[in-house]
Amino acid sequence: MKSKTILVTGAAGFIGFHLCLQLLNRNFKVIGFDNINDYYDTELKNSRINKIKELKNNNWRFKKGDLQDYEYLNSIFVTYKPQIVVNLAAQAGVRYSLQNPIAYINSNLVGFGNLLECCRIYEVENLIYASSSSVYGGNGKYPFSENDSVDHPVSLYAATKKSNELMAHAYSHIYKLPTTGLRFFTVYGAWGRPDMAPMIFTKSILEQNPIKIFNYGEMYRDFTYIDDVISIVCHLIDLPAEPNINFDKKLPEPSSSWAPYRIYNIGNNNPIPLMQFIETLEDELGIKAKKEFVEMQKGDVFKTAADTKIIKSVVNYSNTSLQEGIHHFVTWYKNFYF
Ligand SMILES: NC(=O)c1ccc[n+]([C@@H]2O[C@H](COP(=O)([O-])OP(=O)(O)OC[C@H]3O[C@@H](n4cnc5c(N)ncnc54)[C@H](O)[C@@H]3O)[C@@H](O)[C@H]2O)c1
Repeated sequence: MKSKTILVTGAAGFIGFHLCLQLLNRNFKVIGFDNINDYYDTELKNSRINKIKELKNNNWRFKKGDLQDYEYLNSIFVTYKPQIVVNLAAQAGVRYSLQNPIAYINSNLVGFGNLLECCRIYEVENLIYASSSSVYGGNGKYPFSENDSVDHPVSLYAATKKSNELMAHAYSHIYKLPTTGLRFFTVYGAWGRPDMAPMIFTKSILEQNPIKIFNYGEMYRDFTYIDDVISIVCHLIDLPAEPNINFDKKLPEPSSSWAPYRIYNIGNNNPIPLMQFIETLEDELGIKAKKEFVEMQKGDVFKTAADTKIIKSVVNYSNTSLQEGIHHFVTWYKNFYF
């Protein structure tokens, strides 16, 4: 059977890089797309791309480009005719959305709109795209379920991700484009993002600099290990969203639709107190952190906790323990930076 072509946007990013490796391993033809912007260290992004290049796999192509550039994006679809698209390119990060909101409007709204248009025109069989646990915003009902209301975002980042879900639904309804939105919960692991807690804390602890502990340590995160995330995404590649034949328009549940549209939480269903997370990191590094307790930042939420019943009914996946995940992460960090 001829292998399918998958376009992975955000391929130089943390999750995109791991996904491309796994898809090549599974013999897909993979087109990686990324603008390699300087939101964080571009050397790390280039190293990820170089790591994929080292495989010398003929099924791999990398295209540097921006989702906002519709003409260029369109030309990629004309040339490579991807049957499957996984959209991971976005301006990520809750905190940065307070400083540079326009970056979120451009990449996450304009860019995502361009991608939807290309998927419609070239009749893509399966569009999977990154949403985020941050869509649950100020909700205080735990764990967060895909069928909860998500109408109270507390950052523009979250609002753009919720908007992506709405835009996707319109395309699923009008054009029958199968779309699957994944609400990722604090993904961590090797080759991770320098703007996220595991990287920030590890760097500071090793350099003996104080770490800022927000909300005086009263925070919980549903940490999800990268390999678990990738195994779920790979399963979903073969499972394009289908209409829910039992969908009741009088009792409309948000996670599915009469259209080929699905939303899944991708989490661990195990919220970890921030202080426990720091202790696990300290144990693995063998160094005590210098701690500076500070108030909660604007746009942040107190707790994330994923209800994983729906995704577990579709995909069988393992939940890597925090100890094991942190061990792999720290091993990579030391190898990469020292
Ligand atoms: N890592 C997490 O814990 C997490 C949690 C929730 C949601 N997400 C979402 O998952 C996706 C992947 O996250 P990640 O952690 O790999 O982030 P990342 O920042 O490492 O990767 C995103 C990549 O997209 C690229 N990019 C950004 N804007 C672009 C544009 N306009 N055109 C082309 N490329 C562009 C960036 O250069 C980057 O390499 C993002 O959509 C993010 O919002 C991630």
